[in-house]
Amino acid sequence: MNTVQSLPELRAAIARARSEGKRIALVPTMGNLHAGHIALVKQAVERADFVVASIFVNPLQFGPNEDLDSYPRTLAADQSKLLEAGCNLLFTPDAQVMYPQGMTQHTIVSVPGVSTGLCGGSRPGHFDGVATVVCKLLNMAQPDMALFGEKDYQQLAVIRKMVADLNMPVQIFGVPIVRDTDGLALSSRNGYLNAQQRASAPALHQCMQTVKAQIKNGRRDYAALFEQLNIDLQVAGFRLDYVELRDALSLQPAAVQSTQLVLLAAAYLGSTRLIDNLIFDL
Ligand code: PAF
Repeated sequence: MNTVQSLPELRAAIARARSEGKRIALVPTMGNLHAGHIALVKQAVERADFVVASIFVNPLQFGPNEDLDSYPRTLAADQSKLLEAGCNLLFTPDAQVMYPQGMTQHTIVSVPGVSTGLCGGSRPGHFDGVATVVCKLLNMAQPDMALFGEKDYQQLAVIRKMVADLNMPVQIFGVPIVRDTDGLALSSRNGYLNAQQRASAPALHQCMQTVKAQIKNGRRDYAALFEQLNIDLQVAGFRLDYVELRDALSLQPAAVQSTQLVLLAAAYLGSTRLIDNLIFDL
């Protein structure tokens, strides 16, 4: 597996693979890879003939008080995990390659509707940063397909809408959340948790499972269910950011005719913000 940093090197390697008739998959990441990322690479290996991963900690998607500087950079470990998973090429551009004129002068891709509320409400500008960098990475690599984790459910919806609205010739695949044995959704940010917080962290998934079970049992008093979840999370040491029930396809608030739902939540343990979601049928 080669690692390249520049756009000409990326394009040359992909052109070689294309000339051999290979189908190209792109797995965009910010590095610090865990089993969730590796599941994306493994799906990509199954679906395509040449798998490109990218690692770029995108400053454009971090707010002023967020963890851009402390975000873990673990390139050597990431390279060996990617190699083992069957990745063919790693693209590690720096900010000069991605934003040569700086970020303030750069064109911004803004996806209306799905970018607002949920994480978009708590992290203003975040999804503009995500859409812009993903649009660039897709244009740089021009893959047949790209794969993203369903843990960032709203991000996946933003990317799907961007690709549809801009007629981008790429297929987008969502890959289910990978969880630790205690239910905690894998995330690079789990590494910020101290031992006590890590022990409490699965409560987020457990409380969400309880809400899901009650909805499936016919309860529709969502305000009361969410208030109970808030109380249960507080007992476990969390501070709830949001919990919402949405239509899993449109990401609009759940309606009577919604048949597939997604329960989405974000909550803080200390200063670490964790997100999770559960997709289920009614
Ligand atoms: O999910 C992520 O790691 C990032 O948001 C992404 C899609 C790589 C864009 O920077």
